[in-house]
Amino acid sequence: MPTLIPRPTTAAFPPGRFTLDDHTNVRLGEGTELAADLLRSLLAPATGLPLRPSPEGTFTLALDPAQGHLGDEGYALSVHPDAVLLRAAHPTGLLRGVQTIRQLLPPQALSETAETDTAWILPCADIIDLPQHPWRGAMLDVARHFQPVSYLRRYVDLLALHKISVFHLHLTDDQGWRMPVAAYPKLTEIGGYRTETQQGPAGTGPYDGTPHGGSYTRSELADLVRYAAARGVTVLPEIEMPGHVRAALAAYPSLGNHPERTLDVWTRWGVCDTVLGVHNEALDFCYTVLDEVMDVFPSPYLHIGGEECPTAEWNHSADARRRLATEGLPDARSLHGWFLAQIGGFLVRNGRRPVAWAEPDAELPLDFTVMTWRDDAHTLAAARRGHPVVNAYHRATYLDYARSGAPHEPPAQPGVVVDLRTVHAQDPVPAEADAEAAGRVLGTQAQLWTEFVTTPAHIEYLTYPRLCALADRSWSGPTHWTDFQSRLSDHTARLDALGIPHHP
Ligand code: ACM
Repeated sequence: MPTLIPRPTTAAFPPGRFTLDDHTNVRLGEGTELAADLLRSLLAPATGLPLRPSPEGTFTLALDPAQGHLGDEGYALSVHPDAVLLRAAHPTGLLRGVQTIRQLLPPQALSETAETDTAWILPCADIIDLPQHPWRGAMLDVARHFQPVSYLRRYVDLLALHKISVFHLHLTDDQGWRMPVAAYPKLTEIGGYRTETQQGPAGTGPYDGTPHGGSYTRSELADLVRYAAARGVTVLPEIEMPGHVRAALAAYPSLGNHPERTLDVWTRWGVCDTVLGVHNEALDFCYTVLDEVMDVFPSPYLHIGGEECPTAEWNHSADARRRLATEGLPDARSLHGWFLAQIGGFLVRNGRRPVAWAEPDAELPLDFTVMTWRDDAHTLAAARRGHPVVNAYHRATYLDYARSGAPHEPPAQPGVVVDLRTVHAQDPVPAEADAEAAGRVLGTQAQLWTEFVTTPAHIEYLTYPRLCALADRSWSGPTHWTDFQSRLSDHTARLDALGIPHHP
């Protein structure tokens, strides 16, 4: 029996097969061009199949309002010996179904080079499939270590294979600023590069003496957004504030609390004391940056970071004292939530939904979607308070932690091991949540912070197969560990065909 990751909601595999060959034509219903293009372009490298459009085609793609019960991403697929029919109410559902078709073919279909000796057989199937959670994400930190946009496209391809819906792109941090902003050219010119990097866990080890950096052009990012959208993946940009901004302050010191100081783009790891000021210049900077972010990224959600904001500088700042007086706030600590609320209000006025990492001491307005990461209990607390929540609990979703405690594991964030079974077992919805709170949990996502991750091979080794488990859990709901393991063992042939270095 064919096995799929994520596991479909219902699937039957009656006997028989449909063979795709040079004569297989595709019948395109209205609005199905994107799915047809994806099917053709995914299968072309290995199969060379032309999959020509034709009104007589036996392989039908159709948008069908009667499938509305399957939601935005659901689809129905039937494969019979003489016909294939893929239907969905929305174009995204067809894109999800295309990935299922790809997995039903022999694993060689995923190869990036021509496979001439394989028959392209689809087993007969009746599949109805829709996700448990709409937010099934993966975050990649390109601030700590830059990756070219050509790699980000491959990264998106691999997400789409697993029906991941959100690609969260962590674009700025203390160690680098990757997105160009026309009004602030030095953000990438200066903030995009650091002189070297401290080796080893936060604050330890020697420096490598090697410059690091890079940035994207606006058109590269806009192209990436289109590329991802054509695969049913939304790019969620993250611009950190008011902490994790050392690279921006190296470019524009007046945005901080000590305009007289020259700062380097940070070469260390950990939490940096240097944060934005609470003066109007800093707020206007954030609004200008986010205006440009909104131009490039159509995502309804925009992430403004918001975590780990030390108040050491605000404790001694005249601007902070003035702000506390005019806003009637008690102490420097309260400026953290105040700052984020100003920015969140700006985004809401512009029709977007703000997202921030949850910090218990910075209470946010309820129109913030929060990503809970520090503590499993924060998911329930945030949902009960009334926030939409994405569960990003670090002990189950941070892929920068090692996959095992074995000595052969490559460098990783120390202190915790996140093994495959832990990822598979993590329910995005806390067990204690009542229906109302559970309904606010949008889903979950994996995080890959890249302090110790410099190459695509290392990214993929840490991401796979753990992301397969997160994708399975968030699309399919709970599955038995042994069932997942046995499907993963088949899926391994697909990861191999794609050249993903997932083995220890
Ligand atoms: C985080 O791990 N800094 C959200």
